[in-house]
Amino acid sequence: MSGDTNVDFYESSPEFVRVWADSRLTISSALWQGCPDLDLDRAQEQKLNLMADLADFKPGGKVLDIGCGYGGLLTFAVDERKVGHALGITTSASQAGHVKSLGNPAVEVSDCDFWDLPVETAGFDSVVAVQSLEHVLAGAPADCGSDPKAMREMLRRIHAWTVPGGRFAAEVCVAGPAETRDDLHEQLDAEVLRNSRQAIMPRLGDLLNAGSGLWEPVSIVTQHEDMLRTLEAAGSRLSEREQEARAIGGDRLYQATCETVRGTTAAVRGGIMRIAWISWKRID
Ligand SMILES: C[S@@+](CC[C@H](N)C(=O)[O-])C[C@H]1O[C@@H](n2cnc3c(N)ncnc32)[C@H](O)[C@@H]1O
Repeated sequence: MSGDTNVDFYESSPEFVRVWADSRLTISSALWQGCPDLDLDRAQEQKLNLMADLADFKPGGKVLDIGCGYGGLLTFAVDERKVGHALGITTSASQAGHVKSLGNPAVEVSDCDFWDLPVETAGFDSVVAVQSLEHVLAGAPADCGSDPKAMREMLRRIHAWTVPGGRFAAEVCVAGPAETRDDLHEQLDAEVLRNSRQAIMPRLGDLLNAGSGLWEPVSIVTQHEDMLRTLEAAGSRLSEREQEARAIGGDRLYQATCETVRGTTAAVRGGIMRIAWISWKRID
């Protein structure tokens, strides 16, 4: 273990991410549906279809993607689901730069923190957040107070940004189902969070409660198998293409990415973390 590996995983260049991720550069769970011969690209496309369905993407509609990564979902929304306009926000300059370089006229990206997006921003038919609410919660301004208050304020803002009847879909790393295990939390802190942004894994019940009166849950699925298989695919690519990955990203980023895969896998296997796919409808 090297003690000096401390890089910002989210500022990885697209060329480096392409070595270990799918062709859309997705850094979240794929949807494998138990199919043994599916490849990572197809499994990530299935997940995009799932998010589009959960958020009820409409042809000609407006979509906001909170924590849009390298823009795979934005491009998919416009090209495959024919939405009229897709805005992504991310706190990573590398990710925002990549989305801009794709040059899709119906896709807009802003290098903007969730908490800095103007409250007056409005008019979205659908909002999605894929493995980003954890970071948004950790970065809540002090005046949002304790976690339940931050969750409520986060969901209140998203409510204000949507149209009446609007939909919100999220993929969230939630705590459980096992009890807290200090050793696995320490491993998460040491191997994952120091290489990305701070994050809070909410309890599923707390998140749903925080939306009370604002968001009606339409469907909730939790899983760990799809996440584990996605991590396994990333881990295999990283070891099969180690030389190439080190040449593109450097030794520190290569090691940090391997640690992220390893620490997240241990957390999921140990039952302290699972994935929730949640679909909400706005209460008006
Ligand atoms: C795990 S990545 C997921 C990226 C993308 N949704 C995907 O599935 O590939 C988390 C994303 O959240 C973004 N993020 C973290 N904190 C944020 C904040 N406070 N406001 C907006 N985006 C944030 C990161 O820059 C990154 O794009």
